[in-house]
Amino acid sequence: MRRFRRLRSSEEIRSLVRETRLDKGELIYPIFVIEGEDIRAPVPSMPGIYQWSPDRIDEELDRVDKSGIAGLLIFGIPAHKDEKATEAYSENGITQRTIRHIKEKYPRLPVIADVCLCEYTSHGHCGVVCGHEIANDKTLPLLSKMAVSLADAGADIIAPSDMMDGRVAAIRKALDESGHINTPIMSYSAKFASGYYSPFRDAAQSAPAFGDRRTYQMDPANGREALREIADDIDEGADMVMVKPALAYLDVLRAARDRFDLPIAAYNVSGEYSMVKAAAANGWIDEKRIVLENLTAIKRAGADIIITYHALDAARWIDEQ
Ligand code: PBG
Ligand code: ZN
Repeated sequence: MRRFRRLRSSEEIRSLVRETRLDKGELIYPIFVIEGEDIRAPVPSMPGIYQWSPDRIDEELDRVDKSGIAGLLIFGIPAHKDEKATEAYSENGITQRTIRHIKEKYPRLPVIADVCLCEYTSHGHCGVVCGHEIANDKTLPLLSKMAVSLADAGADIIAPSDMMDGRVAAIRKALDESGHINTPIMSYSAKFASGYYSPFRDAAQSAPAFGDRRTYQMDPANGREALREIADDIDEGADMVMVKPALAYLDVLRAARDRFDLPIAAYNVSGEYSMVKAAAANGWIDEKRIVLENLTAIKRAGADIIITYHALDAARWIDEQ
């Protein structure tokens, strides 16, 4: 008989043989910044998450800065939306202004900027709409302009999440031509058309006004195709790639880890967060235990970087351990 239990006999022994440990330095926290003044609006479907106006966002940034996590992922919600997503690439857009502010007040805090048009378009799609189609090639110049404008504002990393084909190459070219040769791209390479994004669409006010995102985001059934998407983004010049959502796609994460050598991020998305918060609020699960178990599973599956709304809580809990 093999006595596996020998190595489980005390916390000290278990700790000695533990294969996976969470580190605050791999966690990224998403934040939502909204046009206006004196706003700290709770997102009803995401308890603990708020939309912040620029004048109040330091409350949140102070916490992020002190927490020891790796950085933040910023989403802007403009007051004005139109067909061309004008605010996505305007020098004084909500996101650009906030990034400039963060880089002035917290210069060492890494800022990842999400690049996608859906928060900025009147129809809520991630690309330019022609008739009822989301026009791939017409979208690329707008994404490129947006990426350059966010890099000009001081974004440390550019993260395209739109799922148009060819966008990493287009954005890389635009960044290089505008002098941002050292700005890395973290591509949302394997982003699935997921039901787990619905709370986010409340938070970012970015739900599509018609149809859905299935003509550009991936079919949840396709694991092999995810690897082709990732390989293609690497060819186009991505410095880091991402699998999103995380928990229902740990097989994709593991396969990507085994096949590719560059840093891989996993996005523990809004619906994954909300389900944990709802069950915890009902007393059905132990929130701390479940969050640390979920994040450990994501890391064990192969993620180097974890984007999660639990980041600040998790950082505290990791410190306590
Ligand atoms: C924008 C974007 C989305 C998310 C990140 N960037 C929403 C979407 O694709 O509809 C989802 C994040 C989450 O659910 O936490 N394209
Ligand atoms: Zn989008």
